[in-house]
Amino acid sequence: MFSTYVDVALVCCPILAFVTVQHPKMRINNQSNLQYFLLSFFSLVALRYACSTYFVIPNEIPLTTCTSKDQPNPIASKYPGNATGTLNGTVAVIPISLELARQLIPPQYGILEHAYRALLPSFPKDMYPAVVQALHDHEVQAFGYKIPDFSRTGVEFPFVDMLNDNYTSFKWAPSLLMTSGHDIALKGAMDYGTITFPATFEPGCDAYRSVPNSKRPETTYFSARSLEPGAASLSTLFSSTKDEIFPLEFFKNFTNQPTFADGKTCDNMIRLFNTSVSTAPNAIQPVKGTVRAHLAPFTSEQEWTNVYGLRLDSAFIENNYLSCESFRGYSGHG
Ligand SMILES: *[C@@H]1O[C@H](CO)[C@@H](O)[C@H](O)[C@H]1NC(C)=O
Ligand SMILES: *[C@@H]1O[C@H](CO)[C@@H](O)[C@H](O)[C@H]1NC(C)=O
Ligand SMILES: *[C@@H]1O[C@H](CO)[C@@H](O)[C@H](O)[C@H]1NC(C)=O
Ligand SMILES: *[C@@H]1O[C@H](CO)[C@@H](O)[C@H](O)[C@H]1NC(C)=O
Ligand SMILES: *[C@@H]1O[C@H](CO)[C@@H](O)[C@H](O)[C@H]1NC(C)=O
Repeated sequence: MFSTYVDVALVCCPILAFVTVQHPKMRINNQSNLQYFLLSFFSLVALRYACSTYFVIPNEIPLTTCTSKDQPNPIASKYPGNATGTLNGTVAVIPISLELARQLIPPQYGILEHAYRALLPSFPKDMYPAVVQALHDHEVQAFGYKIPDFSRTGVEFPFVDMLNDNYTSFKWAPSLLMTSGHDIALKGAMDYGTITFPATFEPGCDAYRSVPNSKRPETTYFSARSLEPGAASLSTLFSSTKDEIFPLEFFKNFTNQPTFADGKTCDNMIRLFNTSVSTAPNAIQPVKGTVRAHLAPFTSEQEWTNVYGLRLDSAFIENNYLSCESFRGYSGHG
């Protein structure tokens, strides 16, 4: 019966369950069995009811035909009780004016200019590094339960002072295009208050695809379009480059900042750059290219050229729906 509840909770509301549920077999603390049983029992019952309007049988999720080129999740067995996966794709820096950043980022939050300047001393004056991520989530799992792969993309705003402590950097990620039909991922994002657009992706099951016969070296594309016609879109075209304008440390830093949308809870995505998917020769490739986006918080279609970034895969551990306050003083993983 106990494991039935675990299954129901995981099937019913897996991303929430990743956070709340600890499988009995994985108990590692020294709480008494009774205490543990009651705690788990009541949290599962609560989950069951909280999720009763949302019920999906795993083998009915219509996404299982996707085969990806992505290598397997290398850390699933190391962290069996955590949500883990890999994120393959392109991460790039979009310099915008500080003035525009100030208009887009909610006015109650400061911008930690000294924090990004510490990492990028020669970043142009009066500019702010927004970032674009175009990613494929692969083999996302916890407790041995795997969800189907999905893609997502959006423009994000790192180095936001959401606690007003002039120290802790958060990343504001107000909107996302995300694989349509993937109710678990879509609900997971919407629960943060993210404006979420169910979308179709090209390629559908991978992070990017080569442009055949391109004049430029190793050119790849990625594009996402909302199901609702004209609501949102984002596409990228990147070629390999020898110019590494922004150091890897900068990417490690902002991709590991706790992320929020409406500010009620924070997502702690710990991206590791030291596993086999990131450390193989040429696993991390500097790229230069063009990003086109029609997506909130920008009010009109944008095109940015000469955008520099990295094509890379990384393993991650994700801790969901945490109190943002609990990150006061956090400086992230590297
Ligand atoms: C990342 O995705 C690209 C495009 O599908 C693929 O060629 C590459 O092998 C992937 N990287 C890893 C480490 O899985
Ligand atoms: C794994 O999950 C537990 C429970 O939610 C959490 O306390 C721990 O910090 C997570 N591990 C990592 C490496 O984030
Ligand atoms: C990220 O950068 C800030 C400086 O802006 C620094 O204080 C912090 O330690 C860095 N975090 C990591 C993990 O390197
Ligand atoms: C925030 O911290 C930076 C670096 O420590 C400092 O230079 C700046 O004056 C501080 N800003 C405020 C408003 O206290
Ligand atoms: C990778 O780095 C993390 C901390 O950032 C560490 O906990 C882990 O043990 C490292 N893994 C390997 C394979 O070195």
